Amino acid sequence: MIIAQITDLHVRPRGRLAYDRVDTNAMLKATVATLMKLPRRPDVVLATGDLTDCGLLEEYEVLRELLAPLSMPVYLVPGNHDRRENMRAIFYAKGYLPADGEFLHYVVDAHPVRLIGLDTVVPGEGHGLMCLRRLNWLEEQLARAPGEPTVIFMHHPPFLTGLADMDRINCRGGDSMADIVARFPNVERVLCGHVHRFMLRRLGGTIAMACPSTASQIALRLAPEAPPASVMEPPGCLIHHWQPGGGLVSHLSPIGDSGAPMLFF
Ligand SMILES: [Fe+2]
Ligand SMILES: [Fe+2]
Repeated sequence: MIIAQITDLHVRPRGRLAYDRVDTNAMLKATVATLMKLPRRPDVVLATGDLTDCGLLEEYEVLRELLAPLSMPVYLVPGNHDRRENMRAIFYAKGYLPADGEFLHYVVDAHPVRLIGLDTVVPGEGHGLMCLRRLNWLEEQLARAPGEPTVIFMHHPPFLTGLADMDRINCRGGDSMADIVARFPNVERVLCGHVHRFMLRRLGGTIAMACPSTASQIALRLAPEAPPASVMEPPGCLIHHWQPGGGLVSHLSPIGDSGAPMLFF
């Protein structure tokens, strides 16, 4: 099974740029084209939040259009730039989002790897939260299938990154989540977005990863006093390849045309 992960698409209304300078819609279009041209197509695509830039209904309509060429199931979780009610209005018909309740959490049991989508959003805030209700929900879902290889996907990484500005809008309650995950060794990965760059960290006995954005990246400025900045480093996605008996191997894949493969013998 191949799980492609894309994140922080920050889609805008048609013809509008994000931050007045980044054509996030064109960059998502290029991402979709890259995924569809992979020699082995992903079985599913996970999009880990900040799907739109402002949570507008119009942006979700554009998002639906931009994702339409993907021939495989696409599973979305919200980020701090999203608005649950508008996201639900446009994507509820896809059949996996809950009809009611506050959080857009869900479990997908239809694939060789079990997928648990977590909603970390606190409306109106940049930071995320794993509160007691979310933690209990996650523990319940994990307890239902403790032997199944499982991937959890969410927007805010449940760990500090060392990027001062991102850590101000971190996922509160991440340590409690690590305690739960530690009891389920079948959790292969915790897949995240939000920080607009590739990161990897141990989390409660599993591996937590953050995926690059399909658009602009957050500059790698690890000095505590460094002001936050975005850069147009190459966008990317993660390709997680599950093989029974072989585990889950995660590949960082840049988006765009790298030319024809140079065969070697
Ligand atoms: Fe973002
Ligand atoms: Fe975010």
